[in-house]
Amino acid sequence: MKPARRLRWLALGLVLACALPGCVRAVKDTHPDQVLTKRKALFKQMNRALEPIGLVANERNAYKRQEFAGYVDELQKLSGKPWVYFPADGNYPPTRAKPAVWSAPAEFEAAQQQYQAVVALLAQAAQAGDLEKIKPAVVDVTNSCKSCHKKFRFE
Ligand code: HEC
Repeated sequence: MKPARRLRWLALGLVLACALPGCVRAVKDTHPDQVLTKRKALFKQMNRALEPIGLVANERNAYKRQEFAGYVDELQKLSGKPWVYFPADGNYPPTRAKPAVWSAPAEFEAAQQQYQAVVALLAQAAQAGDLEKIKPAVVDVTNSCKSCHKKFRFE
């Protein structure tokens, strides 16, 4: 078989394989505003933004005041963003959000505010350049991520 034809058969095979129920390719986001895709992307960004902060707080990377303040600024900019992407009709697969997000909206909002408050305290410590205040503030931030996940996200 000529290489071009072989490729065509291969492509056809892939298309057929994914027409079968067992095909586990990326699930299409069916929401008109793709809110699940958007909030997941923001949470991933939050995760990435937290990484260099954690490395400094754990003394695995050197503390450089300006650079560190930049990392925290990025985390703070993200801290208000995912929440609008949990609208009333935003609970659909494959979300990992628990139903409590929608059944207990006041508590979910309180968890967001608690998170934004601890990020703001971290930002203050980073602005002040005070590593001894930064370290516990980073712990508070990661605990806040975890406590919201415990209540509102399936493991
Ligand atoms: C107020 C609640 C809340 C806070 C605070 C919070 N999260 Fe989440 N997070 C969620 C919920 C709910 C989901 C599930 C989203 C979904 O699947 O619909 C989630 C999902 C995620 C995901 C998975 C994204 C994916 O691709 O499935 C990551 C990673 C994540 N959060 C990281 C973090 C980090 C890091 C922090 C803190 C810096 C944080 N989150 C703070 C509620 C929160």
